[in-house]
Amino acid sequence: MVKSFKTFLKHTAKDFHNQSVNPPVVRASTIIFKSMKHIRKTQKKAQKNPVGGHYDYGRQGTSTTYILQKILTKLEDSYHVFTTPTGFGSVFLAIFSVVRPGDEIIAADPVYSPTRVLTKDFLKEFNIKTIFYNPHDLKTLERSITKKTKLIFVENPGSNTFDFQDLGKIVSIAKRYKILTAIDNTWGTPYYLKPIKLGFDMSIVSATKYYSGHSDVMGGSLAVNKKVFQKVKAAEKITGLRLGPDDAYLITRGLRTLDVRLDRHRENAKKIAAFLSKNKKIKLLYPFKKKFLKF
Ligand SMILES: Cc1ncc(COP(=O)(O)O)c(C=O)c1O
Repeated sequence: MVKSFKTFLKHTAKDFHNQSVNPPVVRASTIIFKSMKHIRKTQKKAQKNPVGGHYDYGRQGTSTTYILQKILTKLEDSYHVFTTPTGFGSVFLAIFSVVRPGDEIIAADPVYSPTRVLTKDFLKEFNIKTIFYNPHDLKTLERSITKKTKLIFVENPGSNTFDFQDLGKIVSIAKRYKILTAIDNTWGTPYYLKPIKLGFDMSIVSATKYYSGHSDVMGGSLAVNKKVFQKVKAAEKITGLRLGPDDAYLITRGLRTLDVRLDRHRENAKKIAAFLSKNKKIKLLYPFKKKFLKF
């Protein structure tokens, strides 16, 4: 029987190990093997199946992080999900994996401000140029494409402005020009939007927010398709951007109530928007109202 998204959320870790409801927290740096033969066997398995959760050193993760990755891969409907120590780590990993000196990035104007600083200022020092497009006018995106464009970086809904973009159109433009795509899906989460299914190559979520849900953990996830998997895997290995087991445990636990919390957020937002819209002095930034204020 195929489980619904909500039922799967309730089961999460239980589907990937068969003891307690939540996975045990396995903390490790050194991993002990019975013999050299056993180490070699594990390394061979890891080479053969790089998404299989085989590890011989703690920096590669442990069974606790692996279970979270398996859950998120299912939620995202993606080839694989990398987990990082912060959401911004996932933003960095996505860009670092595919962009090289001389390349150009086209990014949505309302991206999260550190993403703006990273692309516009920091990467400029590495001869990487970023052009920003107007999320309400995708012609500005298409006009910005050059032979050097490597990546279109979307954030949807946009930070602070909460604007929604025509994601299908962005994907089709990117495919036409053979440009890679990444999206920051922190506010939507795969509960509302599955970007890899839509055709994006990479999808970022700051797990610090809705995944954890209790303001006591930092973390990020980067879902990928098969096309970019090897590039991201290589970048992840060399940067050491991997989530620790305690945070992985808390995020796994938080995920079980993701749907309940997001449903309530949506209902509350509706009520607040209805209340505020009665006040003529207030300009409302609420995308589901006809007169949504656009920047
Ligand atoms: C849209 C968005 N993306 C990424 C991040 C970075 O996430 P973190 O704070 O987990 O590093 C944030 C944090 O506020 C965010 O709002």
